[in-house]
Amino acid sequence: MKHLISPLDLSPDELSDLLDLAQDIYSAPEKYSHCCAGKKLATLFYEPSTRTRLSFEAAMLNLGGSVLGFSSADSSSAAKGESVADTIRVMSFYADICAMRHPKEGAPLVASMHASIPVINAGDGGHNHPTQTLTDLLTIKSLKGHLDGLTIGFCGDLKFGRTVHSLINAMVRYPNTKFVLISPKELQVPAYIKEETLDPLNIPYEETTNLEEALPKLDILYMTRVQKERFFNEEDYIRLKDTFILDKQKMQLAKEDMLVLHPLPRVNEISTDVDDDPRAVYFEQANFGVYVRMALIMTLLGIKLD
Ligand code: NCD
Repeated sequence: MKHLISPLDLSPDELSDLLDLAQDIYSAPEKYSHCCAGKKLATLFYEPSTRTRLSFEAAMLNLGGSVLGFSSADSSSAAKGESVADTIRVMSFYADICAMRHPKEGAPLVASMHASIPVINAGDGGHNHPTQTLTDLLTIKSLKGHLDGLTIGFCGDLKFGRTVHSLINAMVRYPNTKFVLISPKELQVPAYIKEETLDPLNIPYEETTNLEEALPKLDILYMTRVQKERFFNEEDYIRLKDTFILDKQKMQLAKEDMLVLHPLPRVNEISTDVDDDPRAVYFEQANFGVYVRMALIMTLLGIKLD
């Protein structure tokens, strides 16, 4: 049984097949509209979500399947003290595949050890968010045409931003990737990512607090929100939340073909005056999320188009 807990659970070949499938679905979704007839997806969300949960549900509905689930811990038996292990054992009777979001790092991994259905990590605390990464890869591949040789700037909360951690892990597999890590000192990429991933693979990266200086070098700018819910005190959040704001003026410093991605939700870090810039692709990115999740559900269920 295959689960998706970390972005590296798919081999480079499997990932490449999955992105090809997602692009085919994107170009002709109607061909796939009955692929998952009779199958059920459970969305077990112990933390807030808009896009991830609803794009999973839209993906399964687009494939002709059905969905069930809960969207907050309070509305599930977690509020009564039930363990993730017990919940997933039972969900394995009710659904064919599940997507789980949880505030605790590692919860979806624990679930996968007790499940008899594929488990997809839909975000675990400040750790990983592999399906956002698939969305990001599909966006970059579709709009840039390739995933190699890119200089990617990550800007904002690189400490708690799980989308950043997962995308770094995925991008180091492509040749000639470079990173520019733009954050306040307090919100730098965790040491384990440098020590276990960037340094051993000799991936070129620089850390800076200056967005303006970084902008002209970038092929991709990945903006992120400061992760309010992961802060221990509100004062720090308030002090750091508006450190970087991308606006129309700063966009003049960027390459003409740089893409601006953001996993969303946006708070203040991208001014709405950037939205009309053709390089701002964050809403398109959210659309790609549905197609990549359709491809992922088919792949994990072992379903192929006849
Ligand atoms: C992200 C997340 O949940 O980590 N959102 C998403 O799934 N698109 C980013 C965020 O919440 O800042």
